[in-house]
Amino acid sequence: MTSPDTALLPPASSAPPADLPADLPAVAAEPVVPGAQVEATALVADGVSVSYGASDVVHAARLELRPGRVTALVGPNGSGKSTLLRTAARLQRARAGTLSLEQQPLQQAEASAAPTDGLALSVRDFARHVALLTQGRPVPSGLSVRDVVQFGRYPHRGRWGRADPGGAAAVDRALQLTGVADLAERGVDQLSGGQLQRVWLASCLAQQTGVLLLDEPTTYLDLRYQVELLDLVRDLADESQIAVGVVLHDLDQAAALADTVVLLHEGRVRATGTPADVLTPDLLSEVWGIDIEVDTDPSTGRLRTRAVARHHTRTERLHP
Ligand SMILES: Nc1ncnc2c1ncn2[C@@H]1O[C@H](COP(=O)(O)OP(=O)(O)OP(=O)(O)O)[C@@H](O)[C@H]1O
Ligand SMILES: [Mg+2]
Repeated sequence: MTSPDTALLPPASSAPPADLPADLPAVAAEPVVPGAQVEATALVADGVSVSYGASDVVHAARLELRPGRVTALVGPNGSGKSTLLRTAARLQRARAGTLSLEQQPLQQAEASAAPTDGLALSVRDFARHVALLTQGRPVPSGLSVRDVVQFGRYPHRGRWGRADPGGAAAVDRALQLTGVADLAERGVDQLSGGQLQRVWLASCLAQQTGVLLLDEPTTYLDLRYQVELLDLVRDLADESQIAVGVVLHDLDQAAALADTVVLLHEGRVRATGTPADVLTPDLLSEVWGIDIEVDTDPSTGRLRTRAVARHHTRTERLHP
């Protein structure tokens, strides 16, 4: 999330892993994000260039996140995915480029809206619209799961801790959706990596923003929770009109989940389009520098990628 509070959290002490909760709830029965506070919001970063000291790492990139759509950012290590996402969340300063927000009430989601300069908003106002689950997440000690999820409410509380009428319901719903309600009173320094990951996700959901940015949200999650998380992300887009930007390393997951794929290579957007447009053998092989094959899974009809490892051919030679 974008809260400056979280950056100040102390490091974790070591702790034993905890039991997984018995079951995740079904998501579809009620709106994924409760309450009317969430406005359909688009976030557009255009011509964004970012440098760390003298080295340019993102060059004139465009990222367009629309309500109800999931955009996957893919690319090799170091290609600039996190930097671009952090810049879109205003956690990173851009050397050049613009960041605009377009908002409209949900019922008028199709109507055009005048863009707001995202850079001109206060940190608190911006955080009412955009939440970020960062890649390197702190492991706070001395705080309960509920405390951490409540951090997500900071942009909705007044400067002097004024009332936040929708806060308790939003926190409970976020705890439920991420499967950590049973752990709510436990210390966050007593969680497994995957449980902690879901607590930070809950904190982002409690923030009730129209734009949700997720940097490698499936890291640490076992197979079941990966699937649950990807389903939840799709539901957030479909049912609550959230605009989602998500970094994924698993190209098959990106193909299954995303409406749009943004392929980054050496800090530049190499391609943007539908999964079928972007996840082609030529583009993928060029960007990763290895042979990558793409076909369609006959049982699901979805794109499937396969990196061809050297040992495949060696094994074939040894065992013809
Ligand atoms: N704080 C920093 N200071 C200097 N260089 C940085 C910093 N953070 C990232 N970089 C560099 O910027 C480039 C882009 O990094 P970034 O973290 O955005 O890549 P990424 O695509 O998210 O990679 P990964 O898949 O490994 O998470 C890399 O070359 C990286 O070494
Ligand atoms: Mg990264």
